[in-house]
Amino acid sequence: MQAQRLAWAITGSGHYLRESLALLQTLQEVDVYLSRAAAEIIQQYGFQAALNATGHKVYQDKTASSVPVERFYEGHYHTLVISPATSNTIAKMAYGFSDSLVTNLFAQAGKTRVPSIVFACDTAPELESEAPKSHMVKVYPRAIDLDNVAKLKQFADTQVVEDMDGLQHAIMQRLITAHAIHAHDGLHLEELPAS
Ligand SMILES: Cc1cc2nc3c(=O)[nH]c(=O)nc-3n(C[C@H](O)[C@H](O)[C@H](O)COP(=O)(O)O)c2cc1C
Repeated sequence: MQAQRLAWAITGSGHYLRESLALLQTLQEVDVYLSRAAAEIIQQYGFQAALNATGHKVYQDKTASSVPVERFYEGHYHTLVISPATSNTIAKMAYGFSDSLVTNLFAQAGKTRVPSIVFACDTAPELESEAPKSHMVKVYPRAIDLDNVAKLKQFADTQVVEDMDGLQHAIMQRLITAHAIHAHDGLHLEELPAS
């Protein structure tokens, strides 16, 4: 029986992009999905080498129907992580849109009851955020941005985390659960009498 993997989607956010890539590098059995904006932002921040260093297979937003999402229906994944998640992607997900690779991944994860963990950029009314060339800028998420995050928190099978520690903890919990289920299922297969 093939072990399920973790799907990790990156959107076009500079906020906690560096930290998300660092966390990705510590994980195994991951497929990475990039929104169109994410592919651009990774170039702008000079993080292509950091993405390559993770060693994971990368899928990019190229088709209108988001062809790679069929992998959710084939049972490849135990968890979807979206980090960092832009205000744009959060807004679309909160209102049920699925017109891009990342919003489609979230929709299809929901429809196949695969749990999602989301780190939203807009966690507080005032933030410090990394801009290209490593300088920090002040960002003031609007009420609508914060409302959309709150709306997403109500979704089934969706955990919205507040910071990188919360993200790491949530991922570890999912990995423990997924491996326990896999081991349990494998045990059942081995226990079946030989025909
Ligand atoms: C340098 C740069 C940094 C950005 N950082 C953020 C960010 O931290 N948070 C955010 O919500 N949008 C950010 N954006 C804007 C998004 O990239 C833009 O809204 C894009 O349409 C998002 O598309 P996506 O949600 O499909 O990835 C940034 C844009 C640029 C050019």
